[in-house]
Amino acid sequence: MSWDEGFAHRYEEWSAHMTEDVPFYVELARAAHGPLVELAVGNGRVAIPVAQATGKTVLGIDTSPSMLEHARTRAVEAGVTLDLREGDMRDLSLDEPAALIYCPFRALLHLPTWADRRRTFERVSASLAPGGRFAWNAFAFDHNIAARLDGHHQDAPVPHSLSYDVPENRVDIVLDETGGTSSIWWATRNEWLGLVDVAGLEVEALYGGFGGEPLSPESREYVFVTRARL
Ligand SMILES: C[S@@+](CC[C@H](N)C(=O)[O-])C[C@H]1O[C@@H](n2cnc3c(N)ncnc32)[C@H](O)[C@@H]1O
Repeated sequence: MSWDEGFAHRYEEWSAHMTEDVPFYVELARAAHGPLVELAVGNGRVAIPVAQATGKTVLGIDTSPSMLEHARTRAVEAGVTLDLREGDMRDLSLDEPAALIYCPFRALLHLPTWADRRRTFERVSASLAPGGRFAWNAFAFDHNIAARLDGHHQDAPVPHSLSYDVPENRVDIVLDETGGTSSIWWATRNEWLGLVDVAGLEVEALYGGFGGEPLSPESREYVFVTRARL
């Protein structure tokens, strides 16, 4: 299980520190002339400001009923319309081709295998309008960080423990209160580039941060913008 319902319960607090990605995805959405889709929309943390900035309905897909319920409530409070659908990003299928599909906060890492990711990328590619963009971000694995955090308990932002399974390239995050677990499987730059290749997409930009910093040896985040061929 990559995402327990017990994690949804504390997601708002868990994600409160993550704000720097929002303007990045909002700008991509502003530049898109057509439907907007967020994969793994969660509680609408990004989809709501995107809908506010563009005046468009954002279609959001997520497997978690609890996360979608949070998104519904938060969208009503914000006065925006989200088209929220319970579903798996591996089965993405749209009625209308999208101008932008995006997947923030490392959510593609919830897919356990390369085959799961390949399937998702192929569905994304088939769902984009010509020239449409697919953007996502994911952390770059740092063994120093892993060595520091493996097996450790942390109180912030929500009390939790982290464990690394290196041969499985997986991190398990377990919340104290609910036992809710979020598992992520890290990927290398070449794995991402392989996915882009097999899905027939083109890399438009690969940044090392949300401010458009070039990827460098110090970068710990991949920020990808790809597009469907014209
Ligand atoms: C880290 S949250 C990201 C939520 C939101 N995009 C954000 O940026 O705050 C990860 C989300 O991925 C969802 N998820 C995990 N596996 C999924 C899958 N195969 N298809 C769709 N959603 C999935 C979880 O339910 C959870 O809501």
